[in-house]
Amino acid sequence: METLTTVAELREAIRARRLNAKRIGFVPTMGFLHAGHEALMRRACDECELVVVSIFVNPTQFGPNEDLAKYPRDLARDQALCERAGVELIFHPEPQELYPRGANTWVEVEGLADIACGARRPGHFRGVCTVCAKLFNIVWPDRAYFGEKDFQQLQIIKRMVRDLFMPITIVGVPTVREPDGLAMSSRNAYLSPTERQAARVVPRALQAAVELVEHGELEVANLVEAIEKTVAAQPLARLQYIEIVDPETLTPLRVLTRDARALLAVYIGQTRLIDNVALIPKAPPPPNLG
Ligand code: PAJ
Repeated sequence: METLTTVAELREAIRARRLNAKRIGFVPTMGFLHAGHEALMRRACDECELVVVSIFVNPTQFGPNEDLAKYPRDLARDQALCERAGVELIFHPEPQELYPRGANTWVEVEGLADIACGARRPGHFRGVCTVCAKLFNIVWPDRAYFGEKDFQQLQIIKRMVRDLFMPITIVGVPTVREPDGLAMSSRNAYLSPTERQAARVVPRALQAAVELVEHGELEVANLVEAIEKTVAAQPLARLQYIEIVDPETLTPLRVLTRDARALLAVYIGQTRLIDNVALIPKAPPPPNLG
């Protein structure tokens, strides 16, 4: 396994290996890797002969008052995890390598980026799309792997690739969770032990909606109320948003006439956590022909 820091070196390393690799898999990350990232890498290694991982805390997707400076980093640990998962190349550039002076091109996906996290973090998805477009153009992967944990990001990247005719298959990987249900996230490292306990409310709130849907509830207002109540019962938690949307277009729904996705953001103290879950309405019972 090699770690490369410049575009030229990475391109050369990939060029030298391309003949022996039918498929190139790519996993973009911001590092401080955990079992969620590992699931993406293992899937990539299962499906591709050559796997490239990027570790880059992308400054352009952080707002001015967000956690760019304190975002957790541990390159040596990340390298060991990549090696274990079977990754061949790590790309770990400095910000000026991807954003040299005069870089002026931005990629924006309209509509899908205007709700949920996009509405609360102006410019966030513009930064995500721009860095992913740059990385895709550097690596030229056949497949790129993204977690369902960041469901809106996954849908936006799928749309970007489709709209720009990028010849890349975007693979969505299910969310990896801690034993108590909390979605793995590099930002969980910010939580104090008490906050970590309180954070269980996030998956629990989503589970409350899933259970209501299993019992036949189809009104979004009732599902939202159940989620709000669950979060409100935890004093350390503050709901930022709950949106129940069409899984592809991300347009808000009023009634679950088809499969939907519940997207949730909750502050636990100063730490903002996001999570989401599929809501699958039961098929109506067959007509009684007796
Ligand atoms: P990061 O937060 O490091 O996540 C990298 C990838 O790992 C994303 O596709 C994310 O959805 C996935 N991931 C994170 N936690 C996961 C979990 N618990 N289960 C499954 N997958 C999980 O997302 C980013 O970085 C950045 O926005 C990036 C795409 C790298 C662009 O800068």
